Amino acid sequence: MNTLTDEKIRSYLKYSGDIALTVYKTTDSTNLRAKEAALMGTPSLSVFAAESQSAGRGRLGRSFYSPTDTGLYMTMLIRVKPGALLNLATIYAGTAVSKAIEGCCGLQTKLKWVNDVFVRGKKVCGILAEAVTGKNGIEAIVIGIGVNVKTPQGGFPDEIKDIAGALDTDVSRAELCAAITDELIILSELDFYPEALEYYRARNLLLGMDVEYTLSGQKSHGIVFGIDDAGALLIQKENGDTCALSYGEATIGSKNVKHA
Ligand code: BTN
Repeated sequence: MNTLTDEKIRSYLKYSGDIALTVYKTTDSTNLRAKEAALMGTPSLSVFAAESQSAGRGRLGRSFYSPTDTGLYMTMLIRVKPGALLNLATIYAGTAVSKAIEGCCGLQTKLKWVNDVFVRGKKVCGILAEAVTGKNGIEAIVIGIGVNVKTPQGGFPDEIKDIAGALDTDVSRAELCAAITDELIILSELDFYPEALEYYRARNLLLGMDVEYTLSGQKSHGIVFGIDDAGALLIQKENGDTCALSYGEATIGSKNVKHA
C-alpha cells in the first residue's frame, strides 16, 4: 500500500489552519506519543500517525493488531474545557470516522457503542480516547483511531478473524487520515456539536438488540433502546428496569433479537 507521509496527508487536508503532523513508519503506540506530547505542552489539534505500531493499545487493556501496510493508526490531541466527557469524545470520534469513511469510500457504516465502526457487519475501526490529566483535572483528550484499510495477506489473526473486517476500497491511508482529521477538527471547533450525537444514534448498531453487559460487577442482559446525552448506552432489562451503561462493553447477546 502507498506510504503514509506528511506531504501526502497535507495534500488531501481541507483545513487551512496550522496543525502539527508527526508521521512514523513505526512507533509503539500513537496514543502514547500524543500523551507524551500533551504533557510537553504541544498544541491542540496535533496529529500523530503511523504505518504500523509495535504495541497498539485497545480499550479495557486489550492490544490492537497494527500490522504495517494494511492499516491506518492515528491519534489527535485535543485540548478540552474542564468537565469534558471521555464517552462523548469517543462518540464524536466515531461520528468523525464514520463521516470520513462514508465520504471517501462510499460505504455505509454502523457504530457499535462505544468505540467501534462497522462496515458490512465487521469491525473496521476501533477508537481509544484517553484523558491526559494535569493539576486542573482533564486538560486534554487523545483520540486514537485504528482503521483496517485493507485485509492483511493471509487474513486477520485467528483471535479476531470472526469480528474484524477491512474497508477494502481504493482509498489511501493519507486520504483517509486527512478526511478523519478534517472531520475531527470540525467537531472540536463546534465544541462537539450535539448533531454528532444524532448522527451516531442514527447508526447505532445495537439499537433493538439484546446485549450482554457488566454493571457494578454484575453480568446482565437487556434490549438497547438508545444513547443518552452523556453518551451512555440505554438498556431495558427483562423485568422492565432500565439502566444507562457509561463504561465497559456491551456485546451482542445470544438472543440477538432485532426489533423493527
Ligand atoms: C479498540 O478497538 O479497543 C480501540 C483500538 C484503538 C486503536 C488505536 S490505533 C491508534 C491509537 N494508538 C493506539 O495504541 N491505539 C489507538
